Amino acid sequence: MSAPAKRSVTITLDGSNRSTSLPLLSGSVGPDVFDIRKLYGDLGVFTYDPGYGATASCDSKITYIDGDEGILLYRGYPIEQLAEKSNFLEVCYLLLNGELPNAAEAAEFHDGVMRHTMLHEQLRTFYNGFRRDAHPMAVMCGVVGALSAFYHDSLDIHDVESRRISAFRLVAKLPTIAAWAHKYAVGQPFVYPRNDLTYAENFLYMFHAVPAEEYKVNPILSKAMDLIMILHADHEQNASTSTVRLAGSTGANPFACIAAGIASLWGPAHGGANEAVLKMLAEIGSVDNIKEFLADVKDKDNHTKLMGFGHRVYKNYDPRAKIIQKACHDVLEELGIKGDPLLDLAMELEKIALSDPYFIERKLYPNVDFYSGIILKAMGFPTSMFTALFAVSRTVGWVSQWKEMMEDPQQRIGRPRQIYTGAPQRDYVPPARRG
Ligand code: SDX
Repeated sequence: MSAPAKRSVTITLDGSNRSTSLPLLSGSVGPDVFDIRKLYGDLGVFTYDPGYGATASCDSKITYIDGDEGILLYRGYPIEQLAEKSNFLEVCYLLLNGELPNAAEAAEFHDGVMRHTMLHEQLRTFYNGFRRDAHPMAVMCGVVGALSAFYHDSLDIHDVESRRISAFRLVAKLPTIAAWAHKYAVGQPFVYPRNDLTYAENFLYMFHAVPAEEYKVNPILSKAMDLIMILHADHEQNASTSTVRLAGSTGANPFACIAAGIASLWGPAHGGANEAVLKMLAEIGSVDNIKEFLADVKDKDNHTKLMGFGHRVYKNYDPRAKIIQKACHDVLEELGIKGDPLLDLAMELEKIALSDPYFIERKLYPNVDFYSGIILKAMGFPTSMFTALFAVSRTVGWVSQWKEMMEDPQQRIGRPRQIYTGAPQRDYVPPARRG
């Protein structure tokens, strides 16, 4: 919990003698928060913050973002250092447990995850209920939610061991579920996981291998996949994480909560933006059309957004975007792809936008989604799978945040209030007397 309040703020209601003193709480880093829990009791008023832009919904030790400075820390470790020196499973351990693992802990965690990569055979048939052209995120929502129907032995959210095994199952099975969603869409047979491979290698293997021939994982691709997963693993109280926390606060089981998070991530304003960026670049077509496109973006009547730009928290460059942009160049070069027109277009678009007063005044910079689609496309993933890959990576963040909430003794059901602007109380009018 945050440090005991040393300072407070006093609020007095105009035109009344009612006032209250609200404690100011300090975290380990970042802005202080006013504890408003007694506000309604003392003054009979609520706070109003649509979109929760200035509201701390919880006390968390997992991820810290400084949006003005473009800083992102997982359990205190800068994302740049983890991206360069760590690997995704080690980051999973860090997010879930709070510390980097020693060799024995890392080995035990690896085994724990890899032993849960398979799905119940009945879940295979579950895919058959979908059209082959179903969006992979629709399949992910359905299949992950269906896990609740298979793992009755780990649905007791108040049992530490149940929470632990559910965490293993979710981190381990999401790659299999996503890879099988792709196989189902393209009409190829499902490929079972291989526990002798690393987490990222195993995902690429299940996604690309076919029974007809041997599949060798390209180390360039598995390294890039591992990096992309690290960068997407967690991100404080974003929309999908807040969805998971709200669902979990009612006591819903972890599989249902993660399915809710997947549904929330799907939106183009959130995780769906990586897919939307590729569509946007395709629509722009060439650097010659950038100026006209940006004119549309600045014309409010158009409702056109520069996808992959802007962020509720980052008012500076998203540190993940910088890392992915560099990885784009490295992967394309290592794959021998001489110049990618999409990357060239994206870089020119970024250059022009970052010098345009509209974007400068609004502090709109590239976010994680601006370049991620380009590297994923270069790695051979279909655009429709981009958000599903984001969900695979973010599952460990969702589970870590859900686990933290379940272990919080102050945890209670989330239930925001509102300002009511509808009709005051009135009596029923029979049909004969209506206008
Ligand atoms: C993710 O929260 C997270 O942490 C999310 C995430 C994670 O890891 O979980 O980081 C992942 O979701 C990244 C964001 C991906 N989404 C996109 O790239 C979609 C495009 N971006 C926008 O939709 C928007 O920037 C949001 C949704 C990301 C943020 O919206 P906000 O905070 O509500 O910002 P806003 O709408 O209040 O914008 C302020 C101004 C407005 O203009 P004015 O009304 O002041 O004139 O900036 C404009 C907006 O119209 N604006 C944009 C813009 N984003 C904001 N104008 C053009 N293009 C954009 N992309």
